[in-house]
Amino acid sequence: MAFKILVTSQKGGVGKSTVAANLSAFLSCQLGMRTTLIDWDPHGSSSNWLRRAPNVGVLVQHLTLPIEMGGNRPVFEARMHLRRAVQGHDIVVADLTWTDALAGELMFEFDMVLVPTSVSEIELAATSGFLSRHRWVFDSAITKSPALLVCPTRVLSEQLNSNIFTRQRFPVSFMLAPPILESQSARDMYEQGYLMDLPDACGESFLSFAQAVVAAKDIRMSSQAQDQLQNAVKTRLVSKTLTSGERQLDKLVATPARPTPSVLATTPPSAAYSILSRHRQRKAQESLTEAKSVVSMAIPDFLKRFTRQNTAKM
Ligand SMILES: Nc1ncnc2c1ncn2[C@@H]1O[C@H](COP(=O)(O)OP(=O)(O)OP(=O)(O)O)[C@@H](O)[C@H]1O
Ligand SMILES: [Mg+2]
Repeated sequence: MAFKILVTSQKGGVGKSTVAANLSAFLSCQLGMRTTLIDWDPHGSSSNWLRRAPNVGVLVQHLTLPIEMGGNRPVFEARMHLRRAVQGHDIVVADLTWTDALAGELMFEFDMVLVPTSVSEIELAATSGFLSRHRWVFDSAITKSPALLVCPTRVLSEQLNSNIFTRQRFPVSFMLAPPILESQSARDMYEQGYLMDLPDACGESFLSFAQAVVAAKDIRMSSQAQDQLQNAVKTRLVSKTLTSGERQLDKLVATPARPTPSVLATTPPSAAYSILSRHRQRKAQESLTEAKSVVSMAIPDFLKRFTRQNTAKM
């Protein structure tokens, strides 16, 4: 099953396409993952980058979403694009500028939503507003929510010392990626090469960021595997406790051809509705102690740690 990452934010120029193109290159080139980039940006910045820079084996698709139609139509189209993109691939990275015409349901199509943001007060307020409007997606108890990863981008070295994330009120819990530094070398790399190859602080910051994304992906995948295991165990427990009569009945109820779920229909696992199973899921997640320690790392700690590392290098 391919892992799907959406790189999005409502703000222009924060570095979405830079992140999407370079993360795809890193996953393909350094980790050998079969990677697809879907560029939903009409300007095609990330797809152009990967097409014109040296080939790193990423399958590039520049596609159009009918955003102006609003409602479920873009979600429907996105689902079709993703179905094709995952074929024979390990990972899909999608680049999209979010607009209010898009339904938040689109985010449920992804395992991870990565939100690049610069760290000026005004940009952080915009990011906070964006997350606030979509907190129902990340807080959902019915459908499995995508993991949320906020990525400080285009960060100036003097901004590393400001504890800006503590002053912002973020309405949802999220993971904070190590910041990608602002540098002229990153701008020069556009369509020429990749940030992972930059022999400077910006290149280093990008590598830390990309490794953090991979760590977050692994955490997410292990929690998904845990959920699947629990659902399987639950199903077995339920079928064991059924009497033979009930099993007959269950068979009868289950046998009639179920209508094929429409492409738009979400099919949340029934376990997600059960309070008991949610309790079990929580318990299982608590046992993933290592994963938990990374996920629950306090927001400024990542920045502080990063700052310490950089100061030590100077
Ligand atoms: N780390 C960085 N350091 C310096 N410049 C950067 C960095 N990341 C991105 N940029 C520059 O910022 C500009 C915007 O970047 P990018 O196109 O990736 O943002 P975007 O969010 O995709 O923009 P848009 O909303 O227009 O799609 C580009 O000129 C890019 O080269
Ligand atoms: Mg862009």
